[in-house]
Amino acid sequence: MPETPTKSMDEIVALCRRRGFIFQSSEIYGGINGFWDYGPMGTELKRNLKAAWWRDVVRGENTGPHGESVHVVGVDCTIIMNPKVWEASGHVGGFNDPMVDCRESKARYRADHLTVLGASDASARLYAFIENDTDQRERAVKALLKYEKCEALDPARHIVRPFTQLTAADRARCIGPDAKDAGTLTEPRQFNLMFKTNVGAIEDPSNMAYLRPETAQGIFANFENVTNSTRVRVPFGIAQIGKAFRNEVTPRNFTFRSREFEQMEVEFFIHPSEATEWYSWWRDQRFAWWQSIGLSGANLQLREHDRDELAHYAKAGAGTSDIEYRFPFSAPGFGELEGVAHRGDYDLQQHAEHSGRRDKMKYFDAEKNERYFPHVIEPSAGADRGTLALLCEAYTKDESRPSGVYMKFHPRMAPVKAGVFPLVNKDGLPEIAEKLFKQLRKRHNCEYDPKQTIGKRYARMDEAGTPFCITVDTDTLTSQAVTIRHRDTQQQERMSIDAVDSWLSDQVGEG
Ligand code: GAP
Repeated sequence: MPETPTKSMDEIVALCRRRGFIFQSSEIYGGINGFWDYGPMGTELKRNLKAAWWRDVVRGENTGPHGESVHVVGVDCTIIMNPKVWEASGHVGGFNDPMVDCRESKARYRADHLTVLGASDASARLYAFIENDTDQRERAVKALLKYEKCEALDPARHIVRPFTQLTAADRARCIGPDAKDAGTLTEPRQFNLMFKTNVGAIEDPSNMAYLRPETAQGIFANFENVTNSTRVRVPFGIAQIGKAFRNEVTPRNFTFRSREFEQMEVEFFIHPSEATEWYSWWRDQRFAWWQSIGLSGANLQLREHDRDELAHYAKAGAGTSDIEYRFPFSAPGFGELEGVAHRGDYDLQQHAEHSGRRDKMKYFDAEKNERYFPHVIEPSAGADRGTLALLCEAYTKDESRPSGVYMKFHPRMAPVKAGVFPLVNKDGLPEIAEKLFKQLRKRHNCEYDPKQTIGKRYARMDEAGTPFCITVDTDTLTSQAVTIRHRDTQQQERMSIDAVDSWLSDQVGEG
């Protein structure tokens, strides 16, 4: 069993705010629950993640399970689509979470996230808390012990069970996570997660539309357009990066569960007979990709779903797995970063049926003279969860450094690739440093900083996770060499100023 990480989420959130990674949306007005803004550092970090995904998944030279070249093309679809799309996909009827309201605190919880602690006898008080929330759990334990006037939990008497198993009589004696009185939690009710809006000047049910809850359906709805307008042949993929919106009942854990977030999805269309090979290929490829960008330790795992966990579209498929990261708030458990699912031909069939384009939406293989609905393997990743995992993984305490902490980003992901400094802000050094900075900046995001002591400048760069600092000193005037300081080892080396540009490109790679 790998060790539980000791990183503090509060400290990571504080660093994100202090160094301009992530801010609360509309903070000056008190924020808005479930919405987050990226500051200058966070924007670069998330852009690097998305750019690496696009480069590796869409434009990468990948070899498939039978030695073939893997072909993926991109689309960029609208957030608001014809509402019939969401009827066909099953989201209008089935994209629901069971929700519980607290009449006292007005808080709302996902029923399947609530756990209840209490004695088994019918008159005892029950205390609800959000699963995996250690603070709430501790509060519930304390309150129970105080109420029952005992020192410690008694495993024979005190049991933990899901809130969804409670009867109405149980709920009447249950105290909600943020309540003082018993009986204030409602019965679970289904709540559709799609945000609604109106298209056009008049607010009327006839022009009601939804903000897309996943980017995938834009791809399925364009399947025929893409096959007709390009030379793609099965097997091939259509990729999309874009915003998705879900009116989550309980947005929480920083950006992990947000109401507005970005997805990076591929729908990979295959012949039904090849589902198993392609499913395994994508699952392994995606797991290796997250490792390649810095999540290589024990905090990353691949988890195959049990059959009873499978989504409606994946029931009869070759499999579904999650790539999971052990976030500080989920530890010792893991949270999902990406799902890889065999969706069968569910979506194409649904759209063919609902749009009335039955046979037209089928793929025609001219060589085999075969017309069929391809099956789909879907790797669906979250760009915000990925960014959050990179932040949590990078956060490294080091009391020996002035900053006390540094962000150990993979150089390819680091928001700033190099800091360029004149050792002193005079004697012709700033001019040389600025010239080098302007040259490097053409290809890489770099920062020029002529102020403060060199130690303070290193500390700023350590907190931003900048892998290299390049210093121009008085020796540079004669030797034409600069000092490169490596973030992780803090070791320094001298390098000819002319060699720095191509050396830096080798270190950080391309986007
Ligand atoms: N098309 C399939 C699909 O949307 P999903 O598991 O619901 O599947 C895919 O979402 C990914 O989107 C998740 O693995 C996660 O990374 C991200 N995601 C989903 N809901 C999210 C939320 N509320 N906040 C942030 N990211 C979310």
